[in-house]
Amino acid sequence: MALNIVIMAAGKGTRMKSAAPKVLHKLAGRSLLQHVLDSTAGLAARHRIVITGHGAEQVEKAVHGEALRFVRQVPQLGTGHAVQQAVPELDENGTTLILNGDVPLIKADTAKRLVDACKGETLALLTIHLADPAGYGRIVRRNGAPNGEVQGIVEHKDATPEQLLIREGYTGMMAAPTAALKRWVAQLSNQNAQGEYYLTDIVAMAEAEGVPVLGIAAPNETEVLGVNSPAQLADLERRYQREQAQAQMEAGVRLADPARFDLRGELRCGQDVEIDVNCVFEGQVTLGDGVRIGAHCVIRNAEIAAGARIHEFTHIDGEAAGVRVGEGALVGPFARLRPGAELGAEVHIGNFVEVKNSSLAKGAKANHLAYLGDADVGERVNYGAGSITANYDGANKHRTVIGNDVHVGSNCVLVAPVSIGDGATIGGGSTITKSVAAGELAVARGRQTSLSGWQRPVKKSKT
Ligand code: UD1
Ligand code: MG
Repeated sequence: MALNIVIMAAGKGTRMKSAAPKVLHKLAGRSLLQHVLDSTAGLAARHRIVITGHGAEQVEKAVHGEALRFVRQVPQLGTGHAVQQAVPELDENGTTLILNGDVPLIKADTAKRLVDACKGETLALLTIHLADPAGYGRIVRRNGAPNGEVQGIVEHKDATPEQLLIREGYTGMMAAPTAALKRWVAQLSNQNAQGEYYLTDIVAMAEAEGVPVLGIAAPNETEVLGVNSPAQLADLERRYQREQAQAQMEAGVRLADPARFDLRGELRCGQDVEIDVNCVFEGQVTLGDGVRIGAHCVIRNAEIAAGARIHEFTHIDGEAAGVRVGEGALVGPFARLRPGAELGAEVHIGNFVEVKNSSLAKGAKANHLAYLGDADVGERVNYGAGSITANYDGANKHRTVIGNDVHVGSNCVLVAPVSIGDGATIGGGSTITKSVAAGELAVARGRQTSLSGWQRPVKKSKT
């Protein structure tokens, strides 16, 4: 039986007070709408139809997924009107699942439960019991009995004082037999408190036709909460991060504080990984066995091998090229690894050292205040404080090649392209513009002159 999914995402989101369309605001690094698309990716839907309106072009460009179609709703005359726009795209038979683009944390299992309950025959509504259901459509059951048949949904603004006491709210998500849905939405009217076409009015139509209506309780509040304001967005972000932190801890990761852990992507960890407070992981990050991450690190698109230690306040950003840190390497505090940084085993990168598009072989060290860009650094090299590769001539980038066991003194400038042979030594303060052969000492700086009997100037006395 064909499954179609309709995701309503045309609304403006006035309370966000933002120029961006509401459904493109990010939760854990992904837009609200992308969350819904990702959670429904495994449901084998024939079509997934996203109803766009406000910022339609921007929304359509920003999201991706299989079997995706966009239908524009201009102007937006209510949720019933939104579904009317999708009607021509829906397969005649089977089930249509209706979700909201601003309810990001709905799980695939819950969506599937709705679809299974519908079976292409029944109207299945996802409901939630709330301490404060203000703003929600209320589920009206026969005689008000908790298990009574569902007779309709009444919108908050249209509800009688008695109906406002109902605690069971409609989450905005349902699964309906497609053929009947098409018939029902064609009959909607906007004679109500908001002058809108309410999708929720189809419930009473189903009831009148004798189509069974099922209220299915959502497993928890988090899955069905919508985002309407920055405060609600932040609240959902915290709930989601808490869930992710929990999952990491269940897998054995030791988080110093699950409330101060942020994952905006995927984090795979080996055994005995420890993560201190306030770390942010983005994109794809892998941490090998025994890796320890100090407090306040931001790590994006990186692979960190077993036993490596990332000290406090380190920033690692692999962007597209990635960053790799070898086994037992020590990085930071205050280090910066940029795209294409490849650190071998036991490499040490210390404070205020920046590495970009460079490889450092086993045991190489750059411990203080240095820059390595577009460089290949051999084993056991010691790269002194304040030394840099001048990799950019104003137009092009060039490489610096440093052999094994080279010692680069402090405050050197290696002007690329240049290569330093194995075992060479570069005297501190040198600006190296020509390659240095293996084993040589290169010094390129003004010779020291010492004047004996030098008198310092003395302050003139005021007379
Ligand atoms: C809707 C339900 C209400 C439910 C609540 C749960 C209706 C009439 N009411 O109310 O019973 O308790 O959700 O949050 O359905 N949208 C469009 N086009 C439109 C209007 C809305 O695409 O013309 C989209 C919005 O972007 C949003 C979703 O539909 O993603 C829900 O719309 P919203 O205005 O938030 O509906 P509520 O008034 O909250
Ligand atoms: Mg709403």
